[in-house]
Amino acid sequence: MATQAMSEKLQQEVEIHFEGKSVKLPVHRGSEDEAGMDLAKLRSSTGLITFDPGYGNTGACKSAITYIDGDQGILRYRGYPIEELAEKSTFLEVAWLLLQGELPTKAELASFSAEIKQHTMLHEDFKRFFSALPKDAHPMPVCAATVGALATYYQDPESERQIHSSVIRLLAKMPTIAACSYKHCIGQPFMYPRNELDYTSNFVQMMFATPCEDYPIDPAAARAIDLLMILHADHEQNCSTSTVRLVGSSQAPLFASISAGISALWGSLHGGANQKVIEMLEHIAREDGSADKYVARAKDKNDTARLMGFGHRIYKSYDPRAAVLKKTCAEVIGRLGKSSKLLEIAMRLEEIALKDEYFVSRKLYPNVDFYSGVIFNALGIPTNMFTVLFTMGRLPGWIAHWLEMRRDPDFRIGRPRQIYTGATKRPYVAIERRG
Ligand SMILES: CC(C)(COP(=O)(O)OP(=O)(O)OC[C@H]1O[C@@H](n2cnc3c(N)ncnc32)[C@H](O)[C@@H]1OP(=O)(O)O)[C@@H](O)C(=O)NCCC(=O)NCCS
Repeated sequence: MATQAMSEKLQQEVEIHFEGKSVKLPVHRGSEDEAGMDLAKLRSSTGLITFDPGYGNTGACKSAITYIDGDQGILRYRGYPIEELAEKSTFLEVAWLLLQGELPTKAELASFSAEIKQHTMLHEDFKRFFSALPKDAHPMPVCAATVGALATYYQDPESERQIHSSVIRLLAKMPTIAACSYKHCIGQPFMYPRNELDYTSNFVQMMFATPCEDYPIDPAAARAIDLLMILHADHEQNCSTSTVRLVGSSQAPLFASISAGISALWGSLHGGANQKVIEMLEHIAREDGSADKYVARAKDKNDTARLMGFGHRIYKSYDPRAAVLKKTCAEVIGRLGKSSKLLEIAMRLEEIALKDEYFVSRKLYPNVDFYSGVIFNALGIPTNMFTVLFTMGRLPGWIAHWLEMRRDPDFRIGRPRQIYTGATKRPYVAIERRG
């Protein structure tokens, strides 16, 4: 029965007629029944291309990594609901799941973790690399540049074995790079990794410890960061992941592709939004604490203010990651015994926006960045490091997509087309005869 249903589905096609030409386009179905017409023959048969700015209707690949249903607020990595992974898993386990497709056995997780621990240090020459960068450099371009520079240290051709080493090196060195990017801008000595610590506690140690004294790691704070990284670990074909795939499609090395992904993530409409959320909340707190006034500004088309952390290209109902974080946020802040003015303002903003016709009619709900910034802030993470933590979280997702793309039998270099709107052919005008 299932086979018959599937074969009926596979026979579906879409017929397009244009200026006397026509083509039948087959329809591909995903495992969750999403449908996409295959445009491979569209241009050669009809002369038409598709025009889809922002790629809102364009499927660029088939992928078995992450499933999102934006209308229902569903997010699953390799079939596992994000809520269950957030509650029961760890970041390294999720990284393995994204890369390998299955949850690891105890032995697999232990050897994965041990292998990563062998590669956490950066080459000592990176100290000179960091010292060449300005002290006030934002840590995101520092991270992008450092990951790009890894390609200058590991230059062997990318055989399967070499790719495995690059994957392990990237996962191992990313927390070290992230912490160095911070230590560099505050002028403190870099801390070496401590391999007796777990992945996330090691990052906390490199970020906050100094050589002068012991630094007691709060396991609850490390767990909160681990959870945030799980929630950020993949999100299918978003801007930065598509960038990683596009750069990688030219067969650029993994380090170069990931460096490009970090740059794409930096922007305020993508990973940079968590920093913008906290800046918005601080701005409101500084003014007079009025969430209502800010919501009015966000709705005013003559005002550039947006309600940062609200809205999403894919989620048209509550972002499931934001739901997990809203709960975690209250727990973390309660446990740290901090009164958070910013959390109060955030909750008030959400309350107003969820009842406001402007936001309701446009299906604008809190996204993952809305509460992650408040948690990072409560944990003492400096604002300019928020997107760097997002980077650490997203890394396994980027790598999984890069690997999936490279192994795809339909793999082709990414190369969109355009509708040209410039001048038509005209003769060159000598400079003496110009205006
Ligand atoms: C995420 C985002 C870039 C999605 O963009 P998009 O899918 O291209 O949606 P659009 O920008 O076309 O927005 C659709 C409508 O909602 C409005 N809108 C979207 N997000 C808004 C926000 N955060 N505050 C106020 N209005 C918003 C737009 O002005 C537009 O209104 P219009 O139909 O009257 O012109 C956008 O919602 C945004 O800028 N959000 C704030 C930044 C953010 O939190 N980014 C993190 C994403 S995880």
